[in-house]
This record gives sequence, structure tokens and C-alpha cells, in this order.
Amino acid sequence: EDYQTEAGEGMVVLDAVHAIQAEQAPDLACRWNCKAGKCGSCSAEINGHPKLMCMTRLNTLDLTEPVIVEPMRAFPPIKDLVTDVSWNFEVKKGIRKFRPRAPDAADGTWRMSQRDADRVQEFRKCIECFLCQDVCHVLRDHEDNKEAFAGPRFFLRYAELDMHPLDTSDRRDRAQDAAGLGMCNITKCCTEVCPEHIKITDNAIIPLKERVVDRFYDPIAKLFGFSKKR
Ligand code: SF4
Ligand code: F3S
Ligand code: FES
Repeated sequence: EDYQTEAGEGMVVLDAVHAIQAEQAPDLACRWNCKAGKCGSCSAEINGHPKLMCMTRLNTLDLTEPVIVEPMRAFPPIKDLVTDVSWNFEVKKGIRKFRPRAPDAADGTWRMSQRDADRVQEFRKCIECFLCQDVCHVLRDHEDNKEAFAGPRFFLRYAELDMHPLDTSDRRDRAQDAAGLGMCNITKCCTEVCPEHIKITDNAIIPLKERVVDRFYDPIAKLFGFSKKR
């Protein structure tokens, strides 16, 4: 549908959608919660680019042309701008949970280096907007791949847990087999769209791929049959 609305000072795309809802189309469906780039629910495609509607200012767009706002293409549409992203939550449930080693301090707590904490902290910034999932060609262009490919958001989760200094589980077999890490050909489109500026490819996916190689193809580890984690 085509709508026209006033573009006021400082407005973002979500404001324009709300104005259209208020004045012209009360049943226009869109999902949002925080309007501050933190809940991850207002994801859409704006002029073909996966973006948060609440963080895309109208003055960054060419308003001499119509602004095209569409639902994320990688997920089934429910209504208007709302898509069914529940597949992502199912994928997440299949990842082995955090399992910390025994406390190492007398007071029953743990010690970890600041460097290790910083490394996983970047991954904790994810707001689960699923824009990276939407843009990744493995999911975007091939609906069937959802069976075999978890997508960048969950490679990030695998990396977050696998690099956690207190965690004792080994998820590298699952990352490679069930999650399809090998299908990622490092196009880096996921990193480009992440509103939290997480370096998904360089800091999570590539190190995870290296860890998988260490686990399965390290000849010394293979010879003695050992693995760092269980
Ligand atoms: Fe969104 Fe970035 Fe998290 Fe992907 S990694 S879901 S783009 S915040
Ligand atoms: Fe997809 Fe990101 Fe890999 S866009 S192909 S997961 S680098
Ligand atoms: Fe929360 Fe946009 S409304 S991220």
C-alpha cells in the first residue's frame, strides 16, 4: 500500500509508520517495544536494506522517492511488517547450555581474566533483532537451508559459550554438523547489518571455524584422542 505522511524534524521510520497507523491505517501491523534500538523487535527492510525502523532517521533517506518498508524476507510473514521469527528460538533451544566449571576461589566464586571477559562481552550485546539472519544469503535465498544452517546469530552464540573461560562443554561438533558452520562462506553481510556493531564474522565465526579445525583435524589431538573440553 502507498501512504503519505509529514516527515518532521528528527523522525525515524518507526515514527512515520506510527503516524500512518494513527491517521490512515489503524490495522497496519508492526512490531516494536523500546524505540531505542535495544529490544530488537522493529526489524524490517528499508529500501531493501535490513535495518531497525526505530534507528533509521528519515533524513538519511532520499525523500524525493517513496520509502519502501517491507517485512524481513527470510522469515514467514504474519501480517504487514510482522514476521514469524520463532524458528530462531527453536534453534537456540538446541544449543548446549552454559556449564561452568567448579568455583576456584575460597568464597565459592570464580576468577577470570579481564581479557577473557571482554572477548565474550562483545557477543553479549546481541539484541536478537535477527537482521543478520535476514541478510545471510544461506537463509535468505534458500528456505530449505533452515534445517541445516543455524545462521550468524547462533554462530555468535556458539562462539560466546565456546570462548567463555568458565564453560566446560564442547559444542564444536554441533556447530559443524547440526548448525552448518561449514556452509558460511564468510561473505560478512551479517557483520555489515548488525545494529550493535558486533564483528560477527571476524570475532565469532572465523575463530569458531578455527576451533572446529583444531578439534577435528589437529593430528596430535587425534593421535591421543584428547579434547580440551567435554
Ligand atoms: Fe541482531 Fe547483531 Fe544479534 Fe544479529 S548479532 S541478531 S544483527 S544484534
Ligand atoms: Fe552468512 Fe555471515 Fe557467513 S552473512 S555466509 S553467516 S559471514
Ligand atoms: Fe526496540 Fe526498535 S523498537 S529496537
